Amino acid sequence: MPQARAKPEGFDIEPRNRRFDIEAVAATDWHGGSPVRTAIFNALSLMFPVGEQYFIDTVKRLRERVTDPVLLDEVAGFTAQEAIHSREHSRYNDAVCAARGLSVEKLEAPIRRRIRWAQKYRPPLEHLAMTVAYEHLTAILADAMFRNPATLDGAHPEMAALWHWHGLEETEHKAVAFDVYVAAGGTVAMRRRAMLIVTFNLTRDLIRNMSHLLRGRGLSPFRIWRETATFLFGRSGALKGIARPYRDFYRRSFHPWDHPGDLAIRYRRGEEDEPWFV
Ligand SMILES: [Fe+2]
Ligand SMILES: [Fe+2]
Repeated sequence: MPQARAKPEGFDIEPRNRRFDIEAVAATDWHGGSPVRTAIFNALSLMFPVGEQYFIDTVKRLRERVTDPVLLDEVAGFTAQEAIHSREHSRYNDAVCAARGLSVEKLEAPIRRRIRWAQKYRPPLEHLAMTVAYEHLTAILADAMFRNPATLDGAHPEMAALWHWHGLEETEHKAVAFDVYVAAGGTVAMRRRAMLIVTFNLTRDLIRNMSHLLRGRGLSPFRIWRETATFLFGRSGALKGIARPYRDFYRRSFHPWDHPGDLAIRYRRGEEDEPWFV
């Protein structure tokens, strides 16, 4: 297994207790008036409260295997950040669902059921491998968001600020679950397997949530697929450049800080135009 690598200088995990003014705007097509682009982000947001609570519980269960005091400190930072993300995305999701006449509980139910089943039948280390895989996906999605300005082009500024805040903190804590996994004796084979499962589940959950969010909006399935594909995979698409860092996860020697997160660092230092950084 690889040694835990250090994160870049001055890039500590800093939980920011932000509260976003999103109730009214979350109910609209806040991403440039596009129902499809808005639904992609809203579908992702709908997974966060349940998912992030699962990450927190999973890391806490294996925390006792960590002896390094620096990593223990980082675990505290990680859980604090994820708890605040979960709170803000819950407010976000409540507003989205209230506006569309949807039930948050119903939309979360398939993920809750899957977690309940896995907690009954699968060992804690396997849950941590799943968390490590999810954390890598959120970190590379965050990096793509900072790298590809088209991702939030035309988005309402408060929503863009929320996604940037979340993306920055995902970058700050991206190696915590991984380093705990290494300390707990996790294997390369198990984390590779976990990534295959997580990639499949995330894609399926995203499609299911999008179809609930867009039902009754009068859009043809063809238009939804075409707009989604162009937005994500087009020439200046939101996922441009993500294939390589995704594949890197399967390398034996992989560590999350192999990818420097340099754009998130620039955002944090205020070198990019984001008023909430000051
Ligand atoms: Fe998060
Ligand atoms: Fe995270």
